[in-house]
Amino acid sequence: MPAPPGFRLPPPLQVAWLVADPVRFFAEGRRRYGPVFRIRLPGMPPEVCVATAELAEQVFATDGHGGRAGVVRRAFLGPLVGEASLLTLDDDPWWRHRRLLAPPLHGRAVARWSERVADIAAAEIAHWPLGVPFALRGRMERITLEVIMQVVFGIRDAGRLRRLRGLLPRLVALGGSAALLRLPPRLRRWALTSPLPLRAGSLPTTRFARVRDEVDAILYDEMARRRRAPDPDATDVLSQLLAARDEAGEPLTDREVRDELITLLVAGHETTATALAWTFERLLRAPRVLARLREEPSAGEGGAYLDAVIKESLRLRPVVLATPRVLTEPVTLGGHRVPAGWAAAAVIPLVHSDPEVFPEPERFLPERFLGPDAAAANRAWLPFGGGRRYCAGAQLALLEMRVIITEVLRRLELRPADAAPERARLKAVTLVPARSARVVAVPAVAPSGSAVG
Ligand code: HEM
Repeated sequence: MPAPPGFRLPPPLQVAWLVADPVRFFAEGRRRYGPVFRIRLPGMPPEVCVATAELAEQVFATDGHGGRAGVVRRAFLGPLVGEASLLTLDDDPWWRHRRLLAPPLHGRAVARWSERVADIAAAEIAHWPLGVPFALRGRMERITLEVIMQVVFGIRDAGRLRRLRGLLPRLVALGGSAALLRLPPRLRRWALTSPLPLRAGSLPTTRFARVRDEVDAILYDEMARRRRAPDPDATDVLSQLLAARDEAGEPLTDREVRDELITLLVAGHETTATALAWTFERLLRAPRVLARLREEPSAGEGGAYLDAVIKESLRLRPVVLATPRVLTEPVTLGGHRVPAGWAAAAVIPLVHSDPEVFPEPERFLPERFLGPDAAAANRAWLPFGGGRRYCAGAQLALLEMRVIITEVLRRLELRPADAAPERARLKAVTLVPARSARVVAVPAVAPSGSAVG
């Protein structure tokens, strides 16, 4: 059986192309070699990319045996999320954590946060500038950060919220910075744990360690307070994690809870904000869709058309580029043999632009998810990945999107700041709008002619 075909460019040139134009890089791979092709990036195992929903399912099916997602993510997320994270664990330790984290993030559990999310969104939107261009992505990040702090961490104290508002974005930026991640792992570990380098305040490791320690002190103190006075009715994730017990009746340690809280921050804050930024970037350039969304009687939470708009936005502009698994056993993909030690990944923008499933894939057509072809469209829709490693926060992300879009539309009328569509730029493993979704806002006009909100 042949090995998958692929680019012959040296790995440094492949990565340069990938960074310069991620969507074109993968589209060119599919055009030249078909739905299964190989890429090579420096310092990584050879990676086989797949471009159809059926092949993606085969990659996800490796999750139970031979496919490891954690090891791939550890290289760039390890310093930030620690060793006990759902993102970076594999095998039995991953499964133990997944079972403990799933109940508080379940659809019914997160539905209880809907009003809280609406209040947070309304308070932030009230501060958006009117009549001048601004970047929507940063504004959305403020909302989604607040959601993580208030409903995931369950922090109520105003002083703590104020401190975390400054610290958490710095933690994520420093922990994911090239200066930190490019250091060889052993040198990095030494610089993060030895007293001598930790005294040098200008080192990237020291700057990261100081912010991390400040955040950790707040989180460990929250845990201690809640263990002292548990509230059985608390609905936040932190309180539920402290009360959770595994199959052996053991709780997560404070260290494990800390790592999972940072995991939820890292996985759930910028991703959801980017998805919201893209939704408006597309929506504002599709007047027919926007008009229907505003008119739909059920445009509020749970409305069918709103859900279709969200799905179509996540289809056309998926936030996460790919879902790699490192293989510990060989697999066959589309008639090609992929050896153990290689990685296999579903490339989400390719699956989402398969013209067999999504005719005229470049058009923004929410109706795809409402008509007779909706079942096929749903099967090929994988913005949250798949298999056992399916996004643990998908229900929360979708709830946030429904509520926040509704709050924005209720209060403001947005216009694109520039007519030209924004292209996708690579930011870590995500695709963000190159100009961060620049818009201009004016107050929404109610049907009676009076300004709303
Ligand atoms: C629109 C927003 C989001 C998108 C597009 C997204 C997408 C993804 C994707 C593609 C994966 C990898 C799945 C795979 O490898 O098959 C993932 C994993 C994950 N996501 Fe999300 N995500 C979003 C929001 C969230 C939120 C709000 C949270 C939690 C607060 C979250 C928590 C996680 C976690 C913990 C994982 C790792 C799951 C595991 O490996 O077991 N995500 N997400």
